[in-house]
Amino acid sequence: MLGIETSCDETGVGIVRGTTLLADAVASSVAEHERFGGVVPEIASRAHLEAMTPMIEKACAEAGVGLSDVDALAVTSGPGLIGALLVGVASAKALAYALGKPLYGVNHLAAHVAVDRLEHGALPQPAIAMLVSGGHSSLLRVDDLTHDVVPLGATIDDAAGEAFDKVARVLGLPFPGGPHIDRIAAGGDAAAIAFPRGLTSGRDMERHRYDFSFSGLKTSVARWVEAREAAGQPVPVADVAASFQEAVVDVLTRKALLACQEQGIEHLLVAGGVAANSRLRAMVVERASQVGVQVRIPRPALCTDNGAMVAALGAALVESGRPPSLPGLGADSSLPVTQVVV
Ligand code: KG4
Ligand code: ZN
Repeated sequence: MLGIETSCDETGVGIVRGTTLLADAVASSVAEHERFGGVVPEIASRAHLEAMTPMIEKACAEAGVGLSDVDALAVTSGPGLIGALLVGVASAKALAYALGKPLYGVNHLAAHVAVDRLEHGALPQPAIAMLVSGGHSSLLRVDDLTHDVVPLGATIDDAAGEAFDKVARVLGLPFPGGPHIDRIAAGGDAAAIAFPRGLTSGRDMERHRYDFSFSGLKTSVARWVEAREAAGQPVPVADVAASFQEAVVDVLTRKALLACQEQGIEHLLVAGGVAANSRLRAMVVERASQVGVQVRIPRPALCTDNGAMVAALGAALVESGRPPSLPGLGADSSLPVTQVVV
């Protein structure tokens, strides 16, 4: 199964056989966006065009297969940046047509969850999936990833990764900020500053039990830093980074485990770019063991966007007997998480 991912700024082409990873070629246009402080859709689309053929060739070489050995293809159909998605969908359709092979248009979010098949084998189901990336923060109940994904909650403002990126900017760190905050926080005191935990108290827990909010936290960090600067005092960057990271990770972990307990589910899957965060990985494993929940998190390189995750979901769809997409398959920038295959 050859999988193609182009929903944001990574051009990913992955090849898998069942749950075995054969190749994972990724080109990123992140350096071209850095000076803008965020992904510029048009630049991302053009970079996908340039990287697509080299990445297909690289993945085939890595896997030691030719295109004629590919049995089926999968491509991210949405959600994501429309121009970026279109490059992947058009490329995949051209390949599928030329090779005479079936094509599955799949959901990017479900693919993030599916990638753990490549590391730890078939997914335990039912499971709660916590999907935390630059564009999404959701808690999902997954009874069968190929058929039945039920959203329990999501962010009501910024995504977790977006909060990392915005706070990094306030601290003068490069884009994307998540990995930089992760690194710098390791040398800071996570208890130095008591930043707010959004949607975790009384009324909010009734109305937004499994939802997240990170916008207030981001503003709170910005105000704290501004106040220090206005007073002419140095900003303790490592302490701010560690305290901010602790607030995000604390809320994510608490709500994910609450969902497991209240839904009577023993398995938690953590996925998406923010799942690469070292503090999140450590805290989720520690707290889950205290309440008897088993956690699965793919290795950091598989957490951020890549083509292997798309191929992993494609292979799962073939295994469960789902029909491929129709030739008229398109890209859908706001594809709902409940629609796993288009
Ligand atoms: O899943 P992903 O590669 O792309 C989306 O679908 O959004 O996630 C990218 C996000 C960015 O916001 C980035 O800052 C964040 O994941 N991220 C991290 C870490 N590595 C990537 N956030 C916190 N800690 C990390 N180590
Ligand atoms: Zn993603």
